[in-house]
Formats: sequence, C-alpha cells, structure tokens
Amino acid sequence: MENKRGSFGNRFGVIAAVAGSAVGLGNIWRFPYIAGENGGAAFILLYLLISIVIAIPVMFAEFSIGRHCRKNVLGSFRAMNKGKGWHAVGYLSVLTVMVVLSFYCVISGWTLDFIKESLLNNFAGKDVVQHTAEFNGFVDSLNPVWWSLGFLLLNCVILSLGVDKGIERCSKVFMPLLFVMLLGLAVNSLFLPGAGEALGFLFKPDLSKISWEVVLQALGQSFFSMSLGMGIMITYGSYIKDSENFFNVGTTVTLANVFIAFLAGIAIFPAVFSYGIEPTSGAELVFLSLPVLFAQMPGGQIISIMFFLLLFFAAITSSFSLLEVVVAYIAEEFKVKRVWANAVAFVILGVSSTLCALSLQTGSELKVGGRTFFDFCDYTSSNCLLPIGGLLVAIFVGWVMDRNVRYNQLTNYGKVGTKFYGTYVFLIKYLIPLSIVLLFISLNV
Ligand code: TRP
Repeated sequence: MENKRGSFGNRFGVIAAVAGSAVGLGNIWRFPYIAGENGGAAFILLYLLISIVIAIPVMFAEFSIGRHCRKNVLGSFRAMNKGKGWHAVGYLSVLTVMVVLSFYCVISGWTLDFIKESLLNNFAGKDVVQHTAEFNGFVDSLNPVWWSLGFLLLNCVILSLGVDKGIERCSKVFMPLLFVMLLGLAVNSLFLPGAGEALGFLFKPDLSKISWEVVLQALGQSFFSMSLGMGIMITYGSYIKDSENFFNVGTTVTLANVFIAFLAGIAIFPAVFSYGIEPTSGAELVFLSLPVLFAQMPGGQIISIMFFLLLFFAAITSSFSLLEVVVAYIAEEFKVKRVWANAVAFVILGVSSTLCALSLQTGSELKVGGRTFFDFCDYTSSNCLLPIGGLLVAIFVGWVMDRNVRYNQLTNYGKVGTKFYGTYVFLIKYLIPLSIVLLFISLNV
C-alpha cells in the first residue's frame, strides 16, 4: 500500500487541500471569540506576526518531514530512524486530535441546530435579549449532546465508507461559497451603527493589553487555525510533489487563512457592538451575534440557512481530517477493520464530547482546574498541546533531521528560495524553539 501513495495534482489542488483543512471553525467561530477575550487589535497584531514568523516556518518543517518520508506521522518519524523517543510525537498527535475533536463536535453540533432553527425561521423577529435567553435554554438542554453525537456519527459513517472524491469536490464548491458569503456579510456589517467601534476594537491596537497570556493565546490560535502542531501537515506534505514550492503554498494558505479570520471578525464585531453583546462573551459569540443580525436583514432567513450550512461544511471538512488520524491509528496499530476502528473512536469521542457539551450547562460541576471541561479541552489543546507539538517539530527539523535532506526539501534541491534558507534555519533552530520555551517559562513563573 505504501508504494502506491496518491499525490496532489497541481498547485491549486495542494492549496485547496491544505486550505480545506485549515479553514474551519477555527477561523469563523474561534478567532472572533478569542480575539474578543484578549482585547482585540493588540491580539490580532500578535496573531499576524506569529503566523508569519512562527507558524509558516513550522508548516514548512512539517511539510519537509512528510515529503521526505512519504508516510503518515508515526511512519515518518519511524522512517527517519532517529531513536524511539521521536515516535512519541506520533502518540502526542493522536491525543491532541482527540482533545480537539471533543469540543469541535460540540460546536459543529450547534451549527446543525442553527440550521434547523433557520429552516423553521425561529430567529425571525427576535432581539438580542430574547435570542440570548433561547440560546442559553438550548445549551442547558440535552439537545447539544444529541447534535454532537449525530455529527460524530456522521463523520464515522462517512469515514468507514472511505472518504472518496465526493468530500473533496464538495469542499471545493462550498469553501469558495462560504468565502463569498462571509465577504457579503462583512460588507453588510460595515453599515451597522456599531461598525466604527468594532473596527477600532479590531484594528487599533492598545499595546498595554499585551501580556504573556495574550501572546500564548495568539500562538495557540495561529497553530489551531493553520492545523499545525500535530502532524496533519506532515501527512499532507507526504502528498506534495517534489516539484512543488513550499514557500508559495505556505504563504498563500496562510494569507487566505488570516484573511478569512479577519472577514469573520469584520462580519461579527459590528453586530456585537450594535446589539450590546459583550465581546468577551466567549465561545457563544458567533452564535449570539449573527442570528440577531440575520433576523434584521431582508432575506435573513435564507442567508441564515446558507451561512450555518456552509459553517457546517467548513467544520466537517476539518473534522474528517482530524478523525482520520484517530481511525487510521486504531486500524493500523491494533490491526482491526476500519469499521471497528470507527466504532471505537465513536465510543471514546462520544463520551468526551458529551462531557464537553454537558460542562457548558449552567451550574455544571464538570470542571477541570477552574475551567469547564469544554474550555479545558479548547484551552489545553491550543495553548499547550499544539505549541508543544510545534516545538518538537521545530527541534526535530532544526537539530535532528539530516541537514542535506532539510536543504533539499526546502529549496527543491537548490532550485528555489535559497536566499531565504539561512533565515529559515535561524528561525527553526533558534528563534522558534526559544520563543516557545521562553513563553512557557514566563507563564509559569
Ligand atoms: N484548522 C481547523 C480550523 O481552523 C481545525 C483543524 C483541522 C486543526 N486540523 C487540525 C487544528 C489540526 C489543529 C490541528 O477549524
């Protein structure tokens, strides 16, 4: 099986696939609420800086491991034969994926409920107070549990049938559609009364708001949004042709990803400020602000149906790529059929996502270290597990990987980007590992 690996066709194919994994709830749901909680513009500035200086080089690092080995995460580290310790990175990835999926399924489940509500036209005529009350009622009911289990089951069924071209084709159609809708919504939001305040909040940085915690959150959001730090891009790198240029792919995807997150911010914050929602209101931010906005727009019902449908597609194309890591691991390491691997994954993730959903209910005791179990999974994966994964990859490529292999992978055997190579090595060897380590130290002293 190993010698008949597929590869991405042309450059558009690579960019679409990488962007398909990257663009998800992270951009549209997570980015606005994390930016809102961390003071807006100052956070966004850091996020941009970190995406360029840290995330892009880590993405190249993951690509080069994958393309050199042409194997999955575990297989790649094994093939490099640099000692058993590095296999741990593979296990860490599987663990991280499970933590991410636990809360990802809950939010994806919410999108399903919001599709249903829009179909029934239940947002119509509601103001922010009524809508918030209804939303809280929804979170306190058992419905989020059923929706997230349904979403998980859908993932498992499709994955056990084998992810065929259908999903890829769907995402190629739905992703551009989502983009166009987001653009439309952003333009529409610019005409809301709160637009000025919102733009100031988003783009006028108040540097006094920057703390180590904010830096960590920016790093975590950047990794989460670009699907880094857990080997997804190692797998994708293994499908990239030798002639393809990492620099082009990486920068295009990063810019597109950041741009979509900004658009989501521009679409959401004017509504937030116009309707008096707190920008710090957390994970619910998008689900509180947009329906109220839709309710006041002509043709709002149709837009609302389409928007949540597209959000659901963005979510499911990302969750497939995540779940596949778990399923492939169970199927290959325990030598069971994919159907069984899916069943096992369903049970484990079903329990953990149910706990996430229940922990958001008012008065829930499902807390870890003062955070709800949901927030714990969300926070720890992005702000701890992904940066550690990224750190290990940087150390591996900077210090352990064969130098010639690294050079050849990054420059396509001396043909492209040789001018940047020195800077790249400096970043991946010193700056990136040191800044991640220093960040963790400064947060813990
Ligand atoms: N990047 C996706 C998003 O923004 C989520 C995601 C997919 C992810 N694969 C990942 C996050 C790998 C971390 C690691 O929604």
